[in-house]
Amino acid sequence: MINILSKKLSDGDVSFWKAHADRDFMATRLFPTIGKHFQHSSSKRLLDIGIQSYNRADKDLLQNSAIEFYGLDKSQNCDIPDDWANMIYADLSQVNSFFKRDFGEYFDVIVDYGVLGWPEVSENFSITDFKNYINNILSMLKDTGLYFFKNDLKGQYQQVKDFICEYFEPTLFYDISHVTIGVYETFVFKKKTTKMVKKQIDRFL
Ligand SMILES: C[S@@+](CC[C@H](N)C(=O)[O-])C[C@H]1O[C@@H](n2cnc3c(N)ncnc32)[C@H](O)[C@@H]1O
Repeated sequence: MINILSKKLSDGDVSFWKAHADRDFMATRLFPTIGKHFQHSSSKRLLDIGIQSYNRADKDLLQNSAIEFYGLDKSQNCDIPDDWANMIYADLSQVNSFFKRDFGEYFDVIVDYGVLGWPEVSENFSITDFKNYINNILSMLKDTGLYFFKNDLKGQYQQVKDFICEYFEPTLFYDISHVTIGVYETFVFKKKTTKMVKKQIDRFL
């Protein structure tokens, strides 16, 4: 793992990965398992949300160079390796027709670690921000796609999870769904069918 990280990251960023248990999980279990799973799939498009400098090695951690790897961040000027398919600069909490128009049901996998489940983000979200964020994820993810989510077990984490569970349901994915790592929990979600969402909405009416 250190070998892969140090090819793309500074010494400081490698130390950051070594110091955090959730990062060890991402490097040794999350990304390699996704990479292996998509070895024989005809479509393998992955969107990684929240990039910054220390996620430059994420594509390499998949150990599957055939994966079409996209990054997304609302902050401009992320430092992106040449072998990524694209970097999308956009704010997921905003209504933006671009997501559906250019990436409608495009991705097989969306990785959301440290963004919606990070209290620094979610605590500043209004209900509208949450709805926009989830709507944008739903519009970009294929109906058969997987949404990998990490939740920090702090603050309003239960409400964040409950909100996601209105639109997604947890699914099994090897040994990496519903794992608690210290102060974090991870889930692999799939979209609920329109029928299931409608049933839930009807319950509230
Ligand atoms: C904790 S950081 C990095 C998360 C990264 N996935 C990781 O695990 O290392 C959170 C990132 O999410 C980005 N971000 C926060 N809110 C966002 C939003 N509404 N839309 C898109 N990106 C957002 C920030 O700019 C920041 O780069």
